[in-house]
Amino acid sequence: MQKTLVEKIKRNIYLLRLNDSEVKYFEGLWYIPEGITYNAYVATLPEGVVLFDGWKHVYSELYIETLRQVVDLSDIKHIVVHHMEPDHSGSLKLLLEKVENITVYGHSIANSLMQAFYGRTVKFKPVNDGEKLALGGGHALYFYHTPWLHWPDTIISYLDSEKVLFTCDVFGSYGIPSRVFYEDLPSDEKTVFKWFTQKYFANVIGHHVDWVPKNLDKISRLNLNIELIATGHGPLYREISYITNLYQELGAKQVSKNKTAVIYTSMYRFVEEAVEIAVDELKKQGIDPRIYKFTDTYRDHESDIIGDLFDAENIIIATSTYDADLYPIAKYIVELIKAKIPSNKKILVLTVHGWGPVAGKKLTESLAEKKFQVIGSMEIKGSPRREEAKIREVVNKLIRQ
Ligand code: FEO
Repeated sequence: MQKTLVEKIKRNIYLLRLNDSEVKYFEGLWYIPEGITYNAYVATLPEGVVLFDGWKHVYSELYIETLRQVVDLSDIKHIVVHHMEPDHSGSLKLLLEKVENITVYGHSIANSLMQAFYGRTVKFKPVNDGEKLALGGGHALYFYHTPWLHWPDTIISYLDSEKVLFTCDVFGSYGIPSRVFYEDLPSDEKTVFKWFTQKYFANVIGHHVDWVPKNLDKISRLNLNIELIATGHGPLYREISYITNLYQELGAKQVSKNKTAVIYTSMYRFVEEAVEIAVDELKKQGIDPRIYKFTDTYRDHESDIIGDLFDAENIIIATSTYDADLYPIAKYIVELIKAKIPSNKKILVLTVHGWGPVAGKKLTESLAEKKFQVIGSMEIKGSPRREEAKIREVVNKLIRQ
């Protein structure tokens, strides 16, 4: 797939898309073999060219080269910075070194971050919530604050003449879509992108999920006549209700009935044997669980686990005691769960130990801090086969409670 994509998406608006298939760990944390796109936009308007966001810093030269395909750099008069995370703002540093007299618009927090991140004092215009920027010829841009989606500086903007809402991370997704617009994707790719959107949402926005309905309500009350949602990552949306409804569901922390996930670590197969019994019981009860594991031969990825758990109803966490403490990987995964996943889950804890049981108590206490409903915790000494009946019993308690 080519690295860059330039497409006219409205009468006066171009999409500049960077297809990043080289990134492995988004934010240095989330494994994304599917890659990601950085979507910037250019509006050519009577008052001059308006630029909406940029790309990651490593693509700064390519960003400027791509910009030159559609505009003369000296015609750029305004840059809107919806969000200062460097996957969007990184390439702006080089542009601002090359072109003078550009006014940067964004949240006041973005101004301080511009200086902190890039050592740049720029001509910055902090925008108030609802502020209007007239751009000549009947064009006007409106700015709206959407705090904590997912930084406090996050804003969106609406170009009323083109009926386009620019949303940056909001409604964004992982993955490199084969088409610009979601509606043009083949149906199986639409399904994949629904998952990429949920995964991105859980990984990146999940911690601030309570801000989602607040901001969605606010956008809805604006009664904007939106024809196109232009995101900062992934596909663009003409079917506005599809993506806003998906966000409503995620923001409402909706649980998929009976969806059950099993996450386990296993050093020497004892934990894995307990999981095999639990999974067998789940299947007997008509539930086919998602299984994620960390063993001596295989590791799943935090990005998928957090994405998939977001709408789960039941979770089984199986691990062991290690150095008289909770097994380190389990400790890490549970901290991510506590940070990113809504607590409206039922959880069963299965732990194995040799000379001393510690993991079960620590895990239960840790989950209780975030008010997860731990419906059972088993501490198993050595092989779990002797405890098979009890494991089956607690699994049934998990799915029936
Ligand atoms: Fe896509 Fe929060 O940056």
